[in-house]
Amino acid sequence: MISYIPEKKVFKLDTKNSSYIIAIFQEGYLINDYYGAYIPDTDISALRRRNRSASFSPSNAAIGEGAFTPDTAPMEYSTNGAGDMRISALAVRNKDGNTVTDVRYKSHRIFAGAPDISPLPHIYTNNDNEADTLEIVTADPYTGLEATLYYTVFKELDAVIRCVKLTNSGDAPLDIERAFSACVDLPSMDYDLITLWGRHVKERQEQRRPLAHGLQGIHSKRGVSSHAQNPFAALISAGGNEEYGNAYGFNLVYSGNFDISAEVDHNATTRIIAGINPDDFCWHLDVGESFQTPQCVQVFSANGLGEMSRTFHRLYSNNLIRGRYKTEKRPLLINSWEAAYFDFDTDKLTAFGEHAKELGIEMLVMDDGWFAKRNDDTNSLGDWYVNEKKLPGGLGVLVDRIHALGLKFGIWYEPEMISPDSDLYRAHPDWCVHVPGRVPSISRHQYVLDVSREDVRDNIFGQMSSVLSKYKIDYLKWDFNRNISEAGSALLPPERSKEFFHRFILGTYDLMDRFTKAFPDILFENCSGGGGRFDPGMLYFSPQIWTSDNTDPIERLPIQFGTSYCYPASSMGAHVSANPRTGYKTKAAVALWGTGGFELDPVKLNEEERATVRQSVADYHRYYDLIRSGDLYRLINPLNDPYRCAWAFVSADKAQALLTVVTMRKSENTLFFLKMKGLCPEKYYKCSLDGGVYSGALLMNGGIDLSEACPDDGDSVIVEFGEV
Ligand code: GLA
Repeated sequence: MISYIPEKKVFKLDTKNSSYIIAIFQEGYLINDYYGAYIPDTDISALRRRNRSASFSPSNAAIGEGAFTPDTAPMEYSTNGAGDMRISALAVRNKDGNTVTDVRYKSHRIFAGAPDISPLPHIYTNNDNEADTLEIVTADPYTGLEATLYYTVFKELDAVIRCVKLTNSGDAPLDIERAFSACVDLPSMDYDLITLWGRHVKERQEQRRPLAHGLQGIHSKRGVSSHAQNPFAALISAGGNEEYGNAYGFNLVYSGNFDISAEVDHNATTRIIAGINPDDFCWHLDVGESFQTPQCVQVFSANGLGEMSRTFHRLYSNNLIRGRYKTEKRPLLINSWEAAYFDFDTDKLTAFGEHAKELGIEMLVMDDGWFAKRNDDTNSLGDWYVNEKKLPGGLGVLVDRIHALGLKFGIWYEPEMISPDSDLYRAHPDWCVHVPGRVPSISRHQYVLDVSREDVRDNIFGQMSSVLSKYKIDYLKWDFNRNISEAGSALLPPERSKEFFHRFILGTYDLMDRFTKAFPDILFENCSGGGGRFDPGMLYFSPQIWTSDNTDPIERLPIQFGTSYCYPASSMGAHVSANPRTGYKTKAAVALWGTGGFELDPVKLNEEERATVRQSVADYHRYYDLIRSGDLYRLINPLNDPYRCAWAFVSADKAQALLTVVTMRKSENTLFFLKMKGLCPEKYYKCSLDGGVYSGALLMNGGIDLSEACPDDGDSVIVEFGEV
């Protein structure tokens, strides 16, 4: 609910359990009076803080020296060079060449629903009752810049979605140097910062550090959100954990270069800003033009990180993921990559399909290597026609055979890439991302295709859609296997060269939009060398994302744990592979967390392995709804415990729960009781482990004895609790 209290000049943005309060201060300064657990009061003047001048902090002369300084006030959207010396959310160069930027309140309106900021991916509402939006127009009279701040406030979810639109209403061009999506000023520094770092085959590892005076944060300059840092950060009360503490989560609905920075100032207050990375960014805004920032999703939880994550999961499942497979059951797939790499033909894939069918698998995905002359990763990206040496008679023969088995068929593409050894590159050498006078760097033998160009997008859309419309393709894995360097486009004039990175990602979004609209029945799975583009922007177009190329079940545990901080289980592609680290039982238990599949040669499985795979297929179906619509409870963090990792899903009505425990390393301690979370204390549950019936209170306070359930390295157990 959003209310404006005119006599106090205060906006109150209330969700079920949180309040976010903005005030229009003297001279039109927008300040943030409060963000935290819900408070009913409409007079919040007692909370007003820090808007007194301090030594050396510049005051606004109209208010009076010493009466107000933006340097210490909690500024709602901090600007550069006009008295606030902390990190700024907005900096715009004007016709005089300086970047002094100062926007003040001009007007506002409140409307039902959420703004559509297409072509950028965004949170949407299913009906106008779900959320309201506050739009505040702020303006800089000297330059004519208008910054319109948007806040979409969900009633049932403790989430506030923010973005900013910048409009040049002046009489001279402007250059946007910084345009963050969100800025939050908190009155203390008593928080830990949690971020998700990683690399290829080690994505989204939790990093927790106490805030310290000065700057700290994460960013990407890789052209994509990246393996290296996910566009997510949380502040949690020092000492807080899964259940306790105030947690503020920030996640950018953006797949390009980003920056999330926190600064603790000399008063020990904290500012956090999230948005497009200002490094290598500048946007030229001619008179009358507008620039839209991506959205930042802000989630608040007074009950620790667990509740924060569950809010993200609900929001993304209901208000970000779209299309047929938002609700329709996702097919259990088998992917050819780890089973065959580039070495396959129609007969081999047909044999995979036959064996997969017999195991209960529902879809065959033909990965990299089906097109042009691609037998390794040195060539052919950009030439999206079938290799008839591997697939004689064309793709149709294979697609028909797989469909005749009763399986769906999926295919792999890497649309935004071009191999120097390709017909496309030979015909259009200027279509790769490059800058004048420099040879582009090579990575995995490939260049990046300049999808900021419409003609390039038209070509790729044309090539791919001729395949997708000719055959019945049920699934498309969209890959992206390098980062961007020498970033530039042959079509961009020098004064706009710093627009390239954002224009590139807008091009990607345009391509994805075209494909998802033209082929609404195709299930899209995003991928970037595993989970190098696992972000909310991509989730808007593809309901699932390949979490990591690492399919070792033990190494997957921290990856899936970290991913779950904001991304729902349904979004995590999680496959059982031939990786020898553990038996199939544990591989299946770990993969059950996400949207399932297999990454192995089914022809080579022995009878015992087949039986375990069949059991895992049965478990996938049995627990599908529980895992997708249930609530996640992270129980033992694999980065904090030397021995085990554990998590549970509990249905919304608390009638069913599934606990998974994996032993990473045998413990010296033979006794192991695990306390459940999220059950109803008054309900009684039948435990699948021993057939006993126990109260939720007993299971949560006393725990369940798992001492003998999974004692050794690589063991695992899944335990179901059903209400009796
Ligand atoms: C990436 C993906 C893999 C596979 C290969 C194909 O690394 O993450 O799953 O598709 O590309 O080249």
